Amino acid sequence: MLPSVAKTILPSIPSAKKLYNVVITSDRTMDEFLAEVKRTFEAPLQLSALLDISAKLKAQYKQRLLESDAPCMLPSYNHTLPTGEERGTYLALDVGGSTFRVALVELKGKDLGEKGMEIVKMVSYKIDNSITALKGRLFFDWMAEKIEQTLAEPEVQSHRGSKVLPMGLAWSFPVEQTSPRSGKLKRMGKGFGADHGCVDIDLCELIMDSCRKRNLQVTLDAIVNDGTATLLSRAYRDPATRLALILGTGTNAAIHLPVTALSQEKFGQRPQSWHDEATHVLVNTEMSMFGKGIHKVSKWDDDLNEHHQKKDYQPFEHLISGRYLGEIVRLIVVEAVADAGLFEGRLPDGMDIPYNFYTDLMAQLEADETPSLSKSMYALQKAHPLPASHPYTRTDVVYLRQICQLVSQRAAAYLASGVHALWSLRLDEEGLSPDAEDHVTIGCNGSVIEKYPGFRERAQAYLDELCVRSGGRRGGIVLEIAIESAIYGAAVAVCALEGQDAGVDGKVG
Ligand code: BGC
Repeated sequence: MLPSVAKTILPSIPSAKKLYNVVITSDRTMDEFLAEVKRTFEAPLQLSALLDISAKLKAQYKQRLLESDAPCMLPSYNHTLPTGEERGTYLALDVGGSTFRVALVELKGKDLGEKGMEIVKMVSYKIDNSITALKGRLFFDWMAEKIEQTLAEPEVQSHRGSKVLPMGLAWSFPVEQTSPRSGKLKRMGKGFGADHGCVDIDLCELIMDSCRKRNLQVTLDAIVNDGTATLLSRAYRDPATRLALILGTGTNAAIHLPVTALSQEKFGQRPQSWHDEATHVLVNTEMSMFGKGIHKVSKWDDDLNEHHQKKDYQPFEHLISGRYLGEIVRLIVVEAVADAGLFEGRLPDGMDIPYNFYTDLMAQLEADETPSLSKSMYALQKAHPLPASHPYTRTDVVYLRQICQLVSQRAAAYLASGVHALWSLRLDEEGLSPDAEDHVTIGCNGSVIEKYPGFRERAQAYLDELCVRSGGRRGGIVLEIAIESAIYGAAVAVCALEGQDAGVDGKVG
């Protein structure tokens, strides 16, 4: 962790320099400093460099598909994509980075269009720092308490009657599946302590033990990673879906691949009947874990990694996801204040605290279209006040905004290279030429890809160029938002895996 500094006015720039472990070589003007940031963040984004990254990532993906002990490229039990005909009522659980959502979901068939999947009732529970800090089983007890609260909601009561409710779980962390409804808990990122003492323990049992303590009338029938859930839910509506992408607090991708792409050991102990039926499998790539030594990184990225609790664990995530974009900007700003005299050498309140400059604020700065940038000034002053005698100026905000744009632009380009590598991997494994399919849909979910101004468009533009340069069609890979995909996907997973008796009302399939 960075040492904390006096939060108000720093005594002088030289002493400020000593407070951070960013290596400061010389005093520069603000323009010189910005030019350096620009060079650092834009240099790796030439199309040829991105193609090179993509090729190297693809090689790394291929290697991990064969390694049985790698915590990534994890095959699920889902070997078919949904038809869109699945029907039933389920309790869907979505454990994300910052919320736990519990929803009663009805699947009614894709012929009903938007209404084919419906959330009857959903309750969101915030996962704040006190919850992420819960160690081991305490976290699962907290989940059970929230499931109980949701079951008590009148809409849920009236739908379920006295029946035991089948649940599906979308889990935003790695899990090594051991059956459709069980899987070994793996190390968790995003600051969670629930893995404490529970690594390799069955996730289904952890949750069900806590539910049993409360005598809840539920069964956990399917566990899927949130990436796989997104693939299932988008494919329910759109048969061209073969990939899914999550880009919110964390990042991940899921992909539909022939089983032959993975080594036999990767599947663990599965019944022969599973192997007899499966030609393809949905794979949770854990894309966040790739890229070490492949992406060009800056000294600020190195600094972030160096002080990270799980150093080197998710290098790709550090470059592109919502948990980290704001932190990269914060580290640059700290240096710009100390070295180039940004904000007249004053560090805004709270900017000394790691992870305290939120990606959400970056998004607000990039979205501001007021000529005076007054919205940005207001938002900045609220989150990170400067003394009234030296308020934010328009020039300060333009400067800060340029830093945000450089960081988010690099993220969009790096994301595109990671997705392009997956697209290309699938073509290789399917034996398809790049222009064989009209297009492939990538179901997307997560706050950054859905809400960050211009992010998806920028990533799509890079993808188009990369796709064309590798012999595909412009628009051959399409990033499509999949709304509420973790929740819907958890429900689809139960239905698809459990067969005829999975639905409350028995009208499955
Ligand atoms: C986790 C993945 C998850 C992704 C998106 C990553 O940090 O390792 O399992 O799918 O975040 O939520």
